[in-house]
Amino acid sequence: MLKKVGLALLLLLVVIQFIQPTKNQSTEILASDITKVRQVPADVQEILTVACYDCHSNNTVYPWYSHIQPVAWWLNNHVVEGKQKLNFSTFGDYDTKKANHKLDETIEVLQKNEMPLKSYTLIHTNAKLTDAQKTLVINWAKSAMVGGETGNATPVYSEEKEREEH
Ligand code: HEC
Repeated sequence: MLKKVGLALLLLLVVIQFIQPTKNQSTEILASDITKVRQVPADVQEILTVACYDCHSNNTVYPWYSHIQPVAWWLNNHVVEGKQKLNFSTFGDYDTKKANHKLDETIEVLQKNEMPLKSYTLIHTNAKLTDAQKTLVINWAKSAMVGGETGNATPVYSEEKEREEH
């Protein structure tokens, strides 16, 4: 009996290898890419690419084990959910209010050490951010918040407003 169950599980494992989620891979830089709508210094861009882009952009770098099921599904969920919440590749599609809110949340998740996800940094150790890196991205996010309907270069982030809201 146990042998049969084991065999069935093994077979299932083999079969599911052939059911792969669509890969999130596009090297095209859209007009709505964050780099097209905001100033992103090279050092900030580097951190975002290494630590956030696998789940928050249109281009995921897939490690070898990500092709193995059920790992692939589990990872795909993070990518789909992550992108749905925040996509730096289409950041320009957010209206100013939403864009500012996403930047505000970026600051918050970094301050609270919620991002990158722990399960991710466990393997992607280079995505573990130092305090200096976090500060760099936080300060950038503050400066990238803009005022006005269409967005202008005036940073609108204020520590005071932030404290009131939380
Ligand atoms: C392994 C995938 C993964 C990585 C890497 C990752 N995130 Fe996320 N992120 C998610 C998922 C999944 C969610 C949605 C669920 C949640 O909030 O926990 C999310 C949510 C967020 C949110 C909340 C957005 C909202 O509107 O609620 C922000 C902001 C965010 N991530 C920023 C970042 C930043 C900044 C980095 C890099 C420093 C990063 N994330 C790295 C997967 C990831």
